[in-house]
Amino acid sequence: MVRLAPSLLSADFAHLARDVRALEAAGADALHLDVMDGHFVPNMTFGPPVIAALRPLTPLPLDAHLMITNAETTVEAYIAAGVNHITVHAEACTHLDRLLTFIKSRGCTAGVALNPSTPPDLLRYLPQVDLVLVMTVNPGFGGQSFLESQIEKITWVRSLRAEKGLSFDIQVDGGITQDNIGRVVAAGADIIVAGSAVFKGGISEIPNNMNRLRHG
Ligand code: DX5
Ligand code: ZN
Repeated sequence: MVRLAPSLLSADFAHLARDVRALEAAGADALHLDVMDGHFVPNMTFGPPVIAALRPLTPLPLDAHLMITNAETTVEAYIAAGVNHITVHAEACTHLDRLLTFIKSRGCTAGVALNPSTPPDLLRYLPQVDLVLVMTVNPGFGGQSFLESQIEKITWVRSLRAEKGLSFDIQVDGGITQDNIGRVVAAGADIIVAGSAVFKGGISEIPNNMNRLRHG
């Protein structure tokens, strides 16, 4: 069954502890933390201090999606804050191979995110990657429309994994709804990130929204 990693970007930032507990109770497989620095993307969200405050609230894996320009110099702070997984953007890292290897050396799993216009061929040269994040929106905001153009990228990434005998997870993030999740999973997604579709209608609707995503 596809794994769900709800994005806290759509949570109520005035009640993050409450929303984290609601997501855990509704069966989330991980919490997707959209870290934004206002440089790599126009928006700014939260960083290590907030993540450290969330860490003791839940045993769920904390999946940090770093939409930041200086991941190479700040990644230690996210590790210290207690994340389990770190995804960095190919477009923001000069020394991506070295950074992914370093993240893994510190006990976290490591992922690479690809913006919609980024060709996936670089994955041929990153055999150590644990997760590939195919962005199906341009990063920076929740509630955007799904980019159909990325479906073929998902299938390409899946075929590369098979060709190379690799075992990374394919995570898809952005504009995922009950109406398109079936096609996204059929294309090869193992993990779905969703914000708006999980939080729409308020936290009382989280269990129903997650069930609809899981079971259509
Ligand atoms: C966008 C983030 C996504 C986003 C998903 O930059 O990486 O995780 O929050 O939100 P929805 O599901 O509302 O598109
Ligand atoms: Zn994200």
